[in-house]
Amino acid sequence: MNRGFFTFVFMSNQPIGFFDSGVGGTSIWKEVRQLLPNENTIYLADSKNAPYGEKSKKTILSYSIKNTDFLLKKGCKLIVVACNTATTNTISKLRALYDIPFIGIEPAIKPAALQSKNNAVGILATKGTLSSELFAKTSEKFASEITIVEQVGEGLVELIESGQLNSPKTTELLQQYIKPMLALKTDYIVLGCTHYPYLIPQIKKIVGDKVSIIDSGEAVAKQTQAILLKNNLLNNSFNKNFHQFYTNGNLEVLKNILGKTPENTTIEFADF
Ligand code: DGL
Repeated sequence: MNRGFFTFVFMSNQPIGFFDSGVGGTSIWKEVRQLLPNENTIYLADSKNAPYGEKSKKTILSYSIKNTDFLLKKGCKLIVVACNTATTNTISKLRALYDIPFIGIEPAIKPAALQSKNNAVGILATKGTLSSELFAKTSEKFASEITIVEQVGEGLVELIESGQLNSPKTTELLQQYIKPMLALKTDYIVLGCTHYPYLIPQIKKIVGDKVSIIDSGEAVAKQTQAILLKNNLLNNSFNKNFHQFYTNGNLEVLKNILGKTPENTTIEFADF
């Protein structure tokens, strides 16, 4: 056995890191955990700085670097940028700056555009995502022939960060944002922010069952699996898994959104 073998075994046991502007990226963590139950994980909720969606590209990059450094100090072998806003504005820079694999998340425009029968797709995302170059390129590539109704979900991240998944204000904003999509006969709504899957029950009440709602969670989990496999990084040890969650915001909100967690899960406040 050579040194390379030990390095490889050591690395593959290391955790997968996740970060988001807050609690929303736990929707991605849940998908990854379901597909890869043998992986250790560390999740960072930068709730103190949420929402990222209204901030400048430079500020979003500085938060993304700070979060990445925290996760690397904890020994993460791969980082899932569980935030559309951070991905669409910073992923190419992160990949250039660091020597580990990054998985990003982008609005699922391609599958929606391919499956829409009415050729009309609604997209609910942050201002930062909808105004990014990456988003412009993806829509140009996959959806130039169809009607795209873009809508900034202003205020929704703040409501979710304060634990209001089902408040009258949340319903009011969702109705305001979704009704114009329905008026243009969209039969697909893309959730382009990792916080929004937590609003699916409320969105379904508004759109009924004729409109499909899609997000990128499952695709991100599959991509994470593929990249771990490609880099020989899948955890193959039989040690008990661990899951560590850190927030610099409200601990209770994070606990509530996570719901039931696996054994060996810790949820702590950290000032990062
Ligand atoms: N979860 C983030 C995303 O996917 C929310 C961004 C924000 O904080 O505005 O875009």
